[in-house]
Amino acid sequence: MIVVIDGPAGSGKSSTAKAVAKACGLHYLDSGAFYRAITLIYIENEFKKNTFFESLKQANISFAFENNNFTVVLNGTDVTQQIRESKVSEHVSEVAAIPEAREFVNAYLRDFVKSGNFIADGRDLGTIVFPDARHKFFLVADLEQRAQRRMKEMLEDGQRANFDDVLNNLTQRDKKDTNREEAPLVKADDAIVIDTTSISFDEQVAMIVDRISA
Ligand code: DC
Repeated sequence: MIVVIDGPAGSGKSSTAKAVAKACGLHYLDSGAFYRAITLIYIENEFKKNTFFESLKQANISFAFENNNFTVVLNGTDVTQQIRESKVSEHVSEVAAIPEAREFVNAYLRDFVKSGNFIADGRDLGTIVFPDARHKFFLVADLEQRAQRRMKEMLEDGQRANFDDVLNNLTQRDKKDTNREEAPLVKADDAIVIDTTSISFDEQVAMIVDRISA
């Protein structure tokens, strides 16, 4: 079984998906982490597509979700922290707009979920990657609220964060994610929309758990 949560950056998808995974006994898959991991490869290849595609074919990427932590290992190195750094956030939308990169990620994600019952979060999971998902949710929240949440996460992670920079980054990413030609961020017709701006975290988790358990 696969349950998907799509939505813009900072709408609370990943924390919600992790809590739902725990409550419903599902594995959690963070598809954005995959785009972030291959962005590291793109940066290492100095933004040159030809060598990036070659390195991508040879890359060994693995994920694990244990104790509420989603870890990513790229070619033997744990890159869980590195993929959250600003340099990656600045370039990840560029990588996510490359059709070959999307095909690579989609094939991996479809294969990965064959091993069990998953809840995954992303941008195009309900529309493109898993159109037949058992349950589809689309989380939204006001931009300012999303920026505040993202900032809190970064500070808790020990990173430096400035509110205006975070707001700016989210605005740019919203624009790129929504306007790109390849698999833009769009709600699937059969997805349930949850606006998390003014409901509590526990409420949004309960709304999803109730649907899954019904
Ligand atoms: O969820 P996130 O912010 O970690 O995602 C990082 C980037 O990856 C985001 O800018 C959009 C892209 N992405 C995507 O295009 N499709 C997905 N299914 C997941 C993420």
